[in-house]
Amino acid sequence: MGRTDDGTEQDQDCVRGRVVTEQERRQDERLLHSSSFGAAAVAYDEHRPDYAQDAVRWALGHAPGLRVLDLGAGTGKLTASLVAWGADVVAVEPDAAMLAELRRALPDVRALAGSAEAIPLPDGSVDAVLSGNAMHWFDMDVAGAEIARVLAPGGVLAGLWNVFDDRVDWVDGLARVGGSAAIGPRDVPTSWRTETADMHLPKAGGAAWFGSPEQDEFPHGQRRTADSLVATLATKAGMLVMPEQEREAALGRMRAYLASRPETAEGVFTLPMLTCGLRVRRL
Ligand SMILES: C[S@@+](CC[C@H](N)C(=O)[O-])C[C@H]1O[C@@H](n2cnc3c(N)ncnc32)[C@H](O)[C@@H]1O
Repeated sequence: MGRTDDGTEQDQDCVRGRVVTEQERRQDERLLHSSSFGAAAVAYDEHRPDYAQDAVRWALGHAPGLRVLDLGAGTGKLTASLVAWGADVVAVEPDAAMLAELRRALPDVRALAGSAEAIPLPDGSVDAVLSGNAMHWFDMDVAGAEIARVLAPGGVLAGLWNVFDDRVDWVDGLARVGGSAAIGPRDVPTSWRTETADMHLPKAGGAAWFGSPEQDEFPHGQRRTADSLVATLATKAGMLVMPEQEREAALGRMRAYLASRPETAEGVFTLPMLTCGLRVRRL
């Protein structure tokens, strides 16, 4: 790694004779991970958890109305919780395969192709923008202004993340065995707060569209077997972008670990989870 005259970090790598900056490398990695889900859309829908209803209530608690945009809606896990809560929901998702699953699962929900950086909705048309396990993929340098544009005055932006409760011994062991591609710092209660605290801010600085962030966490769980938990972990972006051999080895280690633990070796168990949230109000 080196530095240019303007202080920008540079990798040693070159693309077509041009030095690749660290910022460009991170951007490429983000795009690779954020676009990985479609290849596993059916498994994603089958195995990923929904969200704690208390977290949904908290996220929408200060919203001025019930018009809600689920941004980065994927196959509709959060969308379904929002519909159950009584919100008037529109879902926006950039990946065609994920969007197709959402439309299949929730045919009555208005579901549009789009992204956080280009939201296909009019100005001031929603009271809240919610995002389940997706806000970390947004380019907030662009998305911040887009989200602020579609929010009505006093509207709320909230990110929700389902995390694995690694304060439970066997979950901590699983996180160690699986490595950060399966269960990373944003996926556990000890570090999700610092990982997500400034998720609503543009990385390049500039306009602050939202007020002070609030964070909270809510107990949650998912009924799993050892096999279905491994299938859930196989849908994490870090696992989806791994070379095949490495991925199979990591999944095999987690399968063997779960078979060795009395809590998970046999039958159905509840995976201890939390739904964690960050909420801000549009300024
Ligand atoms: C981990 S999935 C979460 C899906 C769903 N919200 C859920 O709770 O299961 C992340 C989703 O964010 C979407 N995504 C990635 N980059 C995005 C962007 N820039 N704007 C909107 N959505 C994005 C992906 O296509 C994927 O469907």
